[in-house]
Amino acid sequence: MDRAWWKEAVVYQIYPRSFKDSNGDGIGDLNGITEKMDYLKELGIDVIWLSPVYESPNDDNGYDISNYRGIMKDFGTMEDYDRMLAAAHERGIRIVMDLVVNHTSDEHPWFIESRRSKDNPYRDYYIWREGKDGKEPNNWGSCFSGPAWEYDSTTDMYYLHLFSKKQPDLNWDNPKVRDEVFDMMDWWCRKGIDGFRMDVISMISKVPGLPDGTPGANGFGDFGPYVCNGPHVHEYLQEMNRRVLSRYDLLTVGECSGVTVEEAKKYASLDGKELNMVFQFEHMDLDGGESFKWNDKKIDLVELKKVLTKWQVSLMGKAWNSLYWCNHDQPRMISRLGDDSDACRELSAKMLATCLHMMQGTPYVYQGEELGMTNVPFESLEDFRDIESINAYHELVEQNHVLDGETMLRYLRYKSRDNARTPVQWDDTENAGFTTGTPWIMVNPNYKKINAKEQMSRADSVFHYYQKLISLRHEMDIIVYGDYELLLPEDPAVYAYTRSLGEEKLLILCNFSREEQKVDLPASCKEENPEVLIANYKDPSLERETLRPYEAVVYYYKK
Ligand code: GLC
Ligand code: CA
Repeated sequence: MDRAWWKEAVVYQIYPRSFKDSNGDGIGDLNGITEKMDYLKELGIDVIWLSPVYESPNDDNGYDISNYRGIMKDFGTMEDYDRMLAAAHERGIRIVMDLVVNHTSDEHPWFIESRRSKDNPYRDYYIWREGKDGKEPNNWGSCFSGPAWEYDSTTDMYYLHLFSKKQPDLNWDNPKVRDEVFDMMDWWCRKGIDGFRMDVISMISKVPGLPDGTPGANGFGDFGPYVCNGPHVHEYLQEMNRRVLSRYDLLTVGECSGVTVEEAKKYASLDGKELNMVFQFEHMDLDGGESFKWNDKKIDLVELKKVLTKWQVSLMGKAWNSLYWCNHDQPRMISRLGDDSDACRELSAKMLATCLHMMQGTPYVYQGEELGMTNVPFESLEDFRDIESINAYHELVEQNHVLDGETMLRYLRYKSRDNARTPVQWDDTENAGFTTGTPWIMVNPNYKKINAKEQMSRADSVFHYYQKLISLRHEMDIIVYGDYELLLPEDPAVYAYTRSLGEEKLLILCNFSREEQKVDLPASCKEENPEVLIANYKDPSLERETLRPYEAVVYYYKK
């Protein structure tokens, strides 16, 4: 058992724009986070991952950075940041920064220089190409609709942007770019931060020649095979590790689109040469994936078990997993895989939490998940703020006419990233207590019944259930380090698995359906005399033969 603090930690993700507004301008900010530090302490989390707070023109809510060493004005000042960092550290909470270095903003001074002329010293900081027959250099589509290339008349060339045209891709093959990035990381480490979440870090190394991709539904070529896990990505991360990461005590997690278990064993190998862990997407892609995101397909439980089990088993003893249902890019899991009706909301929120938090890996809780926050009843396109959602609507409905407006709105209500980005519901006063001004994005109207104040005042709330899951992980090595084994792989409604460590064993049973389910466990899981560790119903059965709607139970035994 190779212990490490980041294996034993629970991380809480803050999307600062939507967390807490301290000055009434309708936008969450750093002082708002400082105000709520005691709330996070009470929840019991160890680490905050802070989505970007750097200077940014906000084309993609801070994922387009114009100054890596400055704070976005909307969020406050560097003094506010330092105060927040100190407030976290005083409470034993660590801060992980979002590192967005696949691209910068087009308003970053490097890019402003780069586009000036072909011989500008910053030209090769980005990826510039000549057009082909008066068109883009290749057929790649950007993640946010349209081509992945933007024409620039100053030099009659195109630059690459895998995301919006205000997010030009950096050229990592240029050693000067790596020097700049590593210097900047070092600067934050010296400030005392505790780690990095690395935005789309699997995409920093592109296949030379940038070949055309297979065209998808939108007519553009898929850059995935030429960009994800590219030829030098491991070399660059090992260099980053040697030059920066290994010199500090950090938590590092790479957001790795397109990562396979084989690749993850390199990125997150236990030998510590690259990163601690990665975010993989296979379980998120089961209802469509990036290229086929806009639909209302449901995730199939048998498939979900297969995918999560593959990750649990393949990385065991070789690399480390991250565990997540939610983040700022995903709709609310309770509305996607659980049941957000009044009757089942809390049960299914607790069931999903149990299923995830009993696995091996470092769990991530996304703001509001611990309250059972749900998807949002957006009424029209005007209610949306997310560039991906808005662009996709224009492209699919107005330009290409592949979907009608009503259908697309239904898909957006189900899958849009904005579902995760409405303000945290603090109490039942106006605007859910998030702001005294006008919030930058609508508040979910269900805040009167779903809010932190109510959750904290009630012993059997989702909040207190998360609190208990987190404290169990801190108390029990088996939850962190135990081996995982799946039971009943073909059962379409029940997720059952065990964890074992030495003489100890956990049996985790989760009913993903609204109906009662029979559970036909192997004899080996029935003999012993179990103790119930945590459950979302009162009086769970010790017989382990049936599960009530959305019931979750964790049994503990010692041989
Ligand atoms: C990552 C971020 C997402 C952002 C994109 C471009 O996927 O999580 O929010 O839009 O990268 O930076
Ligand atoms: Ca504010």
